[in-house]
Amino acid sequence: MSEIVYLNGEFMPPEKAVVPVLDRGFIFGDGVYEVIPVYSRYPFRLPEHLRRLQHSLDGIRLANPMSDAEWTGLILDIIARNGGDDQSVYLQVTRGVAMRDHAFPKNAKPTVLMMSSPLVTPAAELVESGVPAITATDYRWLKCDVKSISLLGNCLLRQQAVDAGAAETVLFRDGYLTEASASNVFVVKDGKLLAPPKNHLVLPGITYDVVLELARANSIPLEVREISEQEVRSADELWVTSSTKEVLAVTTLDGKPVGSGRPGAVFHQMHQLYQDFKRTVMRQAA
Ligand code: PDD
Repeated sequence: MSEIVYLNGEFMPPEKAVVPVLDRGFIFGDGVYEVIPVYSRYPFRLPEHLRRLQHSLDGIRLANPMSDAEWTGLILDIIARNGGDDQSVYLQVTRGVAMRDHAFPKNAKPTVLMMSSPLVTPAAELVESGVPAITATDYRWLKCDVKSISLLGNCLLRQQAVDAGAAETVLFRDGYLTEASASNVFVVKDGKLLAPPKNHLVLPGITYDVVLELARANSIPLEVREISEQEVRSADELWVTSSTKEVLAVTTLDGKPVGSGRPGAVFHQMHQLYQDFKRTVMRQAA
């Protein structure tokens, strides 16, 4: 948990950070968020996260309360005020406090919250063994490219995985792979990496982009296209990616082994590339 939280212009201990019950984030889930991984006190891919934040704010028609320079300053500040070299910075912007009415308030001031917790990436054993996943129908809304704080669908789907003793729920909409409850999904078939295209049905993952860049830079055969449920179920490898999971192999799907049932060769290559890339970026930042 954060030692120090930022709320609407002030830094304070988390127990002091309170918002009115009429905040539209609380009443309607009317807001957007970002999760930014921090390695050695350096925020990874910050410009990309700020660009996605702007996309999300545009998607809910909320003016950005800060410039990128202001966001950057605040994020560096919250990192400095919290302990630990590797952190996970969470920020959210809501439409602010107003009498309950679905229509947007005229003069509400956005609520800005920022906090940081220790970054917990998957343990080495999980990277070695891979994780189980289950599947479900993607019944979320049609603006999944917006990183909305309205995450009820994602929470219900993620809990389904927990109840089944699995790490993630892989989602299909109309017979095609979208993503998972809190991560993007990649497939490997016959040595080729397959990725679903970025559109309104998936969150444009920052880690997803890094994986695509690394695949291209290292001549890993790659196709970005719609992936059928059948292709997922007959995959040689299945991965989930996110800022906190990084790149993680899924080794069973609905209880059946994925490929050999062990993390595959392309996964091992990508996992190493990702770790090397992080180290290079951090060295350049130092
Ligand atoms: N979630 N898809 C969904 C639905 C997600 O919630 C996330 C990340 C991703 C991966 O995006 P990125 O690579 O930018 O982290 C894809 C964050 C970590 C969360 O909600 O905690």
